[in-house]
Amino acid sequence: MNPFFDTIVDRTGTHSMKWEKYEGTDILPMWVADMDFKAPPPVLAALKQVIDHGVLGYTRAPGSLNQIVVKRLKALYQWDIEPDWLVWIPGVVSGLNVVCRAFGNKDQTIVTTTPIYPPFLSVSDHCGKPLTTLPMIRKSGRTTLDFEALENAFSKHPGVFLFCSPYNPCGTLFTEAELRQLADLCETYDVLLCSDEIHSDFVLDPENRHIPTATVSETAARRTITLMAPSKTYNIPGLGCAFAVIPNPDLRARFTAGCKGIVPTVNLMGFAAATAAYTACDDWLKQLIVYLAENRNQVMKQINALPGCRLDFIAATYLAWIDVRETGLSDPVRFFEQGGVGLSDGSFFGSPGFVRLNFGCSAAVLEKGLDRMALALKRRSS
Ligand SMILES: Cc1ncc(COP(=O)(O)O)c(C=O)c1O
Repeated sequence: MNPFFDTIVDRTGTHSMKWEKYEGTDILPMWVADMDFKAPPPVLAALKQVIDHGVLGYTRAPGSLNQIVVKRLKALYQWDIEPDWLVWIPGVVSGLNVVCRAFGNKDQTIVTTTPIYPPFLSVSDHCGKPLTTLPMIRKSGRTTLDFEALENAFSKHPGVFLFCSPYNPCGTLFTEAELRQLADLCETYDVLLCSDEIHSDFVLDPENRHIPTATVSETAARRTITLMAPSKTYNIPGLGCAFAVIPNPDLRARFTAGCKGIVPTVNLMGFAAATAAYTACDDWLKQLIVYLAENRNQVMKQINALPGCRLDFIAATYLAWIDVRETGLSDPVRFFEQGGVGLSDGSFFGSPGFVRLNFGCSAAVLEKGLDRMALALKRRSS
């Protein structure tokens, strides 16, 4: 029993994107990557302090927050960064789109992999540059990069590779060797590497660790733009606070120029929340990871017992990428909605026949969702 994470918070009527989709129905929303937990108490206290002060003006990134991030990256990854390598942005998705606009010429493709978090697939619509998608490969129940396909695509001189690490939706944690191989390929073919590491805090087992792509070599650091945020970790995505780490001053200048006039600054609530999150919530985060790991174990056990469903080991994230092709369902999302569970549709990630389940919720809600999925499949086969 965990008094914090077991508490069910009623989100109806709060205009929550996740819950409003199914408002007025009995469908449990387990789709968008937004957890159902309250933000940590120190974050809420910091926000209250801002409200109590009462003046909500334009705000600069606090120098103290830059120092906090410098210390955090050093402590977590032995990554030595300078405060001025940080560029604060109101979202990682904004960062991905700024990169695609600012780097590569209009005929150079942007390369990414599938399945992938859907906004990776829409960048080309926004910047007018072509997109090449390469399927990930599955080796011994683990989804990873296909280096042969990557080299082939890179040999055609794309401008940018959009990478996600840990990997949404498959939950892959990449090894140092894989990251080095990727960074070396980017170096050989002169491709800018944009590494979305928003899920880096969700390493679910103590024996594993996240390695920032930029840390694997000097050359990786020079050509990588890393995107991180407190938003997923501390469940404050609605506050719009993220940052890019850009060691290379030329890349940083181009990225910053790409933001000018379009990308607003982070608001003062975001900065206040980030400061509290990164300084006063270590214990909360430890407990969250233990809780999510137990949810992961339940999901793995129960989904793999369902007829026609397969779920590989989830090393990171709070997302389960479920292969339902063997069920033969023509519209699995609709089928499970009719059974009372709202999942994300794999087609939007570039992989029809899969659904994604978000287990960032209380164990009781998760159990209810899994039971409903099991019942829906049972009814169908009887
Ligand atoms: C891989 C990845 N990147 C970015 C985001 C969203 O980031 P932001 O809300 O900061 O734009 C998500 C949210 O689910 C995500 O999974």
